[in-house]
Amino acid sequence: MAQKIHIFDTTLRDGEQVPGCKLNHQEKLKVAKALEQLGVDVIEAGFPISSPGDFQAVQMISRELKEPTICALSRSVEKDIKVAAESLTYARRPRIHTGIGTSEQHIKYKFNSTPEKIIERAVAAVTYAKSFVEDVEFYAEDAGRTDNAYLAQVMEAVIKAGATVLNIPDTTGYCLPYEYGEKIAYLKENVAGIDKVIISAHCHNDLGLATANSIAGVENGITQIECTLNGIGERAGNTSLEEVVMILKQRYPDKYYTDINTRMLNPLSRLVSESMCMPVQANKAIVGVNAFAHSSGIHQDGVIKARENYEIIDPAEVGVDKSFIVLTARSGRAALAYRAKEIGYELAKDELDVAYKHFINLADRKKEVDTSDLQAMLDGVFQTA
Ligand code: KIV
Ligand code: ZN
Repeated sequence: MAQKIHIFDTTLRDGEQVPGCKLNHQEKLKVAKALEQLGVDVIEAGFPISSPGDFQAVQMISRELKEPTICALSRSVEKDIKVAAESLTYARRPRIHTGIGTSEQHIKYKFNSTPEKIIERAVAAVTYAKSFVEDVEFYAEDAGRTDNAYLAQVMEAVIKAGATVLNIPDTTGYCLPYEYGEKIAYLKENVAGIDKVIISAHCHNDLGLATANSIAGVENGITQIECTLNGIGERAGNTSLEEVVMILKQRYPDKYYTDINTRMLNPLSRLVSESMCMPVQANKAIVGVNAFAHSSGIHQDGVIKARENYEIIDPAEVGVDKSFIVLTARSGRAALAYRAKEIGYELAKDELDVAYKHFINLADRKKEVDTSDLQAMLDGVFQTA
């Protein structure tokens, strides 16, 4: 039987930390409701201690949403945890996300502490969070650079304290996929009680490996992926939701599934991009404007013959109307005939030869021949003749 992979969306927390991406309450609620429709399992709605505005946003989302678990972030600090719990009072399924840095780097240079004291703080934080809610997720910040044996000790201790979800963040985007996978496999082997909890991947994209690392995690026992739409997030961003969901759907259909309605991926990507003022790069997988656009003559000819020649995903499956044939000086006759037919010109072979001569001259002058250019050109050639 296929294993469910829980989708934990942190667009409104890690994503919203990005400079310039701040949303007002109404915008946050709109995105949260869309995420609920999309089918995410958990929404990390904010970091309530960080500002009164963030507190109110988490509270409002908790009141309004019915289905997903609503999660609030905190550090391993009592005041943070108390405020996170207050912000979740109205949530139907509240989760407190608390944690602390566990790498040597963080222990020495961020906390000026010792490994033993960090475990004490982690256990105290989880115990305190449990006094408010049943569902407590613990993050070991910088787990990617944390020694595996020590990480296992931390994880065992927080499970004993009642953690229901273990988050293994590659905070600095440092791991290679095989290292991240081995880390998860090591924890699965060496942490007592780990089979009773959800193990979560939270990967950053500093080396462009966030998606690959999350998938390596899944292959080794991760059952929740933390991600954002369009991969937005601190620095180079987080694992992109649309990428991991489509990888699981395309490449592991018998092994894993998510509850995501993939037809909403493109509309939601646009909503997030527009409301957060973060343009999506044109060649971004799944949601970039070029993700289903074909521009070279060889590819255009192939895709017109059979879409599957150059597309592994049916665009409709991710909410794109259809693939797009871009007309440029690299396009061939097949592409011109295809686009001409779309606007009502069914060209015979000799007509196509004539049209192509005009087209290639036009295309050499313009970067792209758009529909209105094409219409004007064909009208000029055939209606004045
Ligand atoms: O990247 C990270 O480690 C985080 C934690 C707060 C979960 O965002
Ligand atoms: Zn993060």
